[in-house]
Amino acid sequence: MYVACRADDRSIAFENQGGARIEIHPRWLRERCMSDASIDQRTGQRLFNPSDLPSDLAVTEVVETAPGLLRVGFSDGHVSVFSAEALLAEARRSDDDDGAPAPETWMATLGTLPRAHWRDTQDPKALRAMLSDYLRLGFLILEGVPTEPGSVLAAGRRFGFVRDTNFGELFDVRSVPEASDLAYTALSLDPHTDNPYRDPVPGIQLLHCLVNETQGGLSTLVDGLAVAETLRRTAPADFALLAATKLRFLYRDRDTELVACMPQIECDAAGRVHAVHCSPRLDFTGFRPAAELDRLYRAKTEFDRLCRAPEFEIRFKLDPGELVMFDNRRLLHGRTDFDPAEGLRHLQGCYIDGDGPRSLYRVLNRGEA
Ligand code: OGA
Ligand code: ZN
Repeated sequence: MYVACRADDRSIAFENQGGARIEIHPRWLRERCMSDASIDQRTGQRLFNPSDLPSDLAVTEVVETAPGLLRVGFSDGHVSVFSAEALLAEARRSDDDDGAPAPETWMATLGTLPRAHWRDTQDPKALRAMLSDYLRLGFLILEGVPTEPGSVLAAGRRFGFVRDTNFGELFDVRSVPEASDLAYTALSLDPHTDNPYRDPVPGIQLLHCLVNETQGGLSTLVDGLAVAETLRRTAPADFALLAATKLRFLYRDRDTELVACMPQIECDAAGRVHAVHCSPRLDFTGFRPAAELDRLYRAKTEFDRLCRAPEFEIRFKLDPGELVMFDNRRLLHGRTDFDPAEGLRHLQGCYIDGDGPRSLYRVLNRGEA
């Protein structure tokens, strides 16, 4: 149980009986002021620029007006009210806590796959639970999605905003003669991320099965975050090299030339893995002296070996009416080969922006905490 008190005549602090102390910076506190003078109550946006506050801003008065409610006076004359509990919760929040469930890495041993029924996307509680699974694990399998062509777009719109590309809003994945992409053959596809040559990279991919009359063509998924963290642990120099070296990813056809330069393992400012990009069919390593390239290729080969290692991969068959939605910046996906003589295999896919399910989750989570 923390109690608010004054700190150094300048701000406030929270102290508990064990002597632990959380000191609150006056400007940090003022950033969180929700009073009419600070926030436009209709838009929720701030009415002032905190950089314009006096640099020596101080708290001059703290009064507990009701249990857990603090009235705070500032040295520039502003007065506002804060909930002690909300301030403490906010103070404990890490920099990358965006209010959505944190990722939980998984391997081939994952066991039960996150599955839900399309009709349950209409039920807010069930929708929140499936979004939570998706955000933790990076993927979700939906059953009962109507096998009408184009339904993948309705599913995409349920979770976010469909990302149109030079391939159109949706793409058909089936084996065709003289295919324009190896995805449109009956060959197996090694684990990869889609379209690393785009900026930004498609956040989420949905693949919806309309027909699958073949025994093969199993869908595969690998948690790129688990692979990258394993590489960081087992081969830290390889991890550091891949995180520091940009590759050039390229797509070109008659009307389009897309190029993005990105490291295979993208880390954020705190060194956490933010995304992985892996498409051995489309990547090019920049020129370097042979000894440097030796090191780089060794690192790439090791990362690639882990990406294809059975201990990381799950496999499942997508039956007609089933759809898999996955984080294309975290997971790698692929498929096993199939025999087109057995029958037809037809999937439709689309991309949606990565922030859609996160936003939806937070909205559904309001008042549930
Ligand atoms: C793709 C792809 C997977 C599949 O089209 O990029 O990965 O199951 N397809 O055919
Ligand atoms: Zn793909």
